[in-house]
Amino acid sequence: MLTVLLEAQKVSRFFHSGKNRSFALQEVSVAVRSGEFLVITGPSGAGKSTLLNLLGGLDRPSQGDVRYNGRRLAAMNDSQVAMLRNISFGFMFQTPHLLTDRTVAENVSLPFHYGTPIAQNEIQDRCRELLEYIGMADMAGRFPDTLSGGEMQRVVFARALVRRPKVIFADEPTGSLDADNSERILVLLQEQTRQGCAVVMVSHDPEAVRYGSRVIRLEKNHSHT
Ligand SMILES: Nc1ncnc2c1ncn2[C@@H]1O[C@H](COP(=O)(O)OP(=O)(O)OP(=O)(O)O)[C@@H](O)[C@H]1O
Ligand SMILES: [Mg+2]
Repeated sequence: MLTVLLEAQKVSRFFHSGKNRSFALQEVSVAVRSGEFLVITGPSGAGKSTLLNLLGGLDRPSQGDVRYNGRRLAAMNDSQVAMLRNISFGFMFQTPHLLTDRTVAENVSLPFHYGTPIAQNEIQDRCRELLEYIGMADMAGRFPDTLSGGEMQRVVFARALVRRPKVIFADEPTGSLDADNSERILVLLQEQTRQGCAVVMVSHDPEAVRYGSRVIRLEKNHSHT
């Protein structure tokens, strides 16, 4: 049995509109094990992004617990959660967000600017290694607005990976890409799981869902299978 790395236990997230509560997610439980490629699928509005954000410590549940390595995120303050995200998690979203006034290499090494300081030459080595891995070694000095969408998303992928995270969260990472570029990102994500990293990806693209080692489906009424 692979060890459980991350766990949501009966998590709900609701919002108040006047006197009413509206649920974005209701009592969902899921465990994420190292080395697995978990795909969260289901219709628009089912709470997929909400669940991903709760698991990734980007949002806090209204009810229920999220645990990482057995430790409750609710017991951590915001800066401890931010530290956990920076060191142990990597993130990708549907549209690539890169700092436009920084080069490709600077964008990739951005996560090293927070937390424990690391020697500049180590940062450069890791950055070079990742740019080679994504096939963009010759584009280190380019600026994001000179890249194609697929190249930008590969830079985001490299940035997500630069600190060797234990979990990569990806919300529709191929949503803005064509078939070839999507496949490239999915293969890269899948390769990480072989190194023991867990991937949690939201997608409703059947092609992308096929890459999952496990698929959970959220429904609009928020029960899940
Ligand atoms: N800040 C908020 N305030 C009020 N309602 C919200 C808020 N965030 C999300 N919701 C609602 O919660 C529900 C779930 O949203 P979520 O973004 O998780 O859906 P999703 O499954 O990711 O959908 P999509 O496939 O369209 O991205 C939606 O009905 C949404 O309108
Ligand atoms: Mg969403």
